[in-house]
Amino acid sequence: MNFKGKDVVSIRDFSKKEIEHILSVAKTMVPAAKGQEISELMKGKILATLFYEPSTRTNLSFKAAMLRLGGSTLGFTDAKGTSATKGETLADTIRMAEAYSDIVVLRHPQEGSARLAAQFSKQPVINAGDGAGQHPTQTLLDLFTIQDELGSIEGKNIALVGDLRYGRTAHSLAHALAMFDTKLTFVSPRTLKMPGEVIRHLEDEGAEPVISDDLESVIPDSDIIYVTRIQKERFPDPAEYIKVAGSYRLDQDMIKNAKQTMRIMHPLPRVNEIPPEIDATVHSAYFRQAFNGVPVRMALLALVGGVV
Ligand code: CP
Repeated sequence: MNFKGKDVVSIRDFSKKEIEHILSVAKTMVPAAKGQEISELMKGKILATLFYEPSTRTNLSFKAAMLRLGGSTLGFTDAKGTSATKGETLADTIRMAEAYSDIVVLRHPQEGSARLAAQFSKQPVINAGDGAGQHPTQTLLDLFTIQDELGSIEGKNIALVGDLRYGRTAHSLAHALAMFDTKLTFVSPRTLKMPGEVIRHLEDEGAEPVISDDLESVIPDSDIIYVTRIQKERFPDPAEYIKVAGSYRLDQDMIKNAKQTMRIMHPLPRVNEIPPEIDATVHSAYFRQAFNGVPVRMALLALVGGVV
């Protein structure tokens, strides 16, 4: 399996076998991701991180991943400090980034921006989130986490909860979970349902997602509750956000009938969806999930860089 020079734009560009290969390489990266081993796999290579939207986990874990592999990073976390403010196009900025680096990571508010960047870059482009579109590296770390927490992904009952309309992590993850024969339930307020296009694709793949707005009734059968934040910044009308803000809150009372093995995941940041009282329970997996971004992104960088 050869990933050298491959763009990572959408999870749909990867087969199940390719995903499984990435997850198995990620497993081998864990000791170096924890600083218990030294890796020099990417020594002499440079990663460019172009973040046109705020990020904590994706930005820092990509940088940590490259540094843990012995490589270097450059980039920006706010386009206000770049020539985009003078009117430079994304295409031209990408041409500069590819000239200064070996791999380009892009987060951008516009859906389709990563695909466009990949067309203009000779170096591989990794999509770190394009508007309400896709977040494929988040999906890979989510799959890695499910496998790590439950032993396997196949056949599990997985509920995706919250903002399924604008939540790019939920879109990417639903596509991938369909490949693993999981039983999917989508729980959201009526106005934030999973887009019809995503549902149609899942049905074409043979999945039969259940649609619900009642989180409490879904919890007892779930192996994973994947909670997402209501994406305030993507609402064209703030009044519509206020109507649905705080729709679901996964507190102790809500999870009293959960299986002992049920795990709660969240791509983070959280706002009010999961109160801090849940952090110390056996169910919380979201901080381990965030750490898993490092070995998974190390695997991707090493694979795309052609060094493993
Ligand atoms: N999960 C995630 O994409 O988090 P950040 O927005 O902090 O990168």
